[in-house]
Amino acid sequence: MELDLSGNVALVTGASRGIGLAAVCALQREGATVAAVARAASPDLEATGATIVCADLASPDGADEVIAAVERAHGRLDLLVNNVGGGARLSLAPFGQLEDADWQDAWETNAMSTIRATRTALPLLARHGGAIVNVSSIGARKPDGPPLAYNVAKAALTAFSGAAAELAASGIRINTVSPGPTRTAMWESETGLGGKLAAALGAPIEAIVAGTPEQVTMVTGRLSEPEEVADLICFLLSDRAANITGADYLIDGGAIRTV
Ligand SMILES: NC(=O)c1ccc[n+]([C@@H]2O[C@H](COP(=O)([O-])OP(=O)(O)OC[C@H]3O[C@@H](n4cnc5c(N)ncnc54)[C@H](OP(=O)(O)O)[C@@H]3O)[C@@H](O)[C@H]2O)c1
Repeated sequence: MELDLSGNVALVTGASRGIGLAAVCALQREGATVAAVARAASPDLEATGATIVCADLASPDGADEVIAAVERAHGRLDLLVNNVGGGARLSLAPFGQLEDADWQDAWETNAMSTIRATRTALPLLARHGGAIVNVSSIGARKPDGPPLAYNVAKAALTAFSGAAAELAASGIRINTVSPGPTRTAMWESETGLGGKLAAALGAPIEAIVAGTPEQVTMVTGRLSEPEEVADLICFLLSDRAANITGADYLIDGGAIRTV
């Protein structure tokens, strides 16, 4: 399917690796000019040739810095992928052990990062009509169990597409993509969920990753690849999805099978 995003300037947050990096590459393949944010650039991101802005989007000033840099570099913004998520304190602890700082970190990283970036980008997006995709999680639909603060913040993020009617008046669409386990550092690194689970269970990360599809009932029997999530993001940003807004799309190997 030709999505033809040429002529559009896109901004992807959380773009140095994983789903964000895959989104940068997919958007470029479809012809978009891409700006990309992370706290630090990575060699893989530098290799894309995207305009890189280093900023902390979990901080109150991050969004202002990023949107100002995009306007300086490109003079316009049409497509916004709010992909930042996770958090420095991402915790598998039970509710009774979660501290204010755990909740604050989850909220700033997973909800406020997107809310502020969207609010700051609105005037630019409204100039030509735009599209937004927020990357949430199946944890928003099924928040039982850890990481509870992350799941609750993602639930708020999914609900944020309740702004769809107001944004439609400015010609802007907003949709959510909710991945299940996806093969990124979030599962494969020691500091991610996979690593934390491995440490808690005394098992190798590889065994945790291999057992995850069965554990979360992904009926396809495998994790998603970041490129598959990126393709869904691109579709929702494109004019092929021109009449889709305020929607939440699961990409989870069938883990959540409800109507
Ligand atoms: N992988 C999964 O299984 C899965 C499942 C459901 C939902 N998701 C969601 O999908 C999104 C991407 O996840 P991923 O697995 O690709 O994560 P990842 O591999 O850990 O990548 C996260 C990206 O976000 C950047 N980032 C993190 N905090 C940031 C901040 N405060 N300001 C700016 N950039 C920041 C990181 O770069 P720096 O560290 O350099 O800043 C990195 O580029 C997240 O919202 C996550 O919650 C992932």
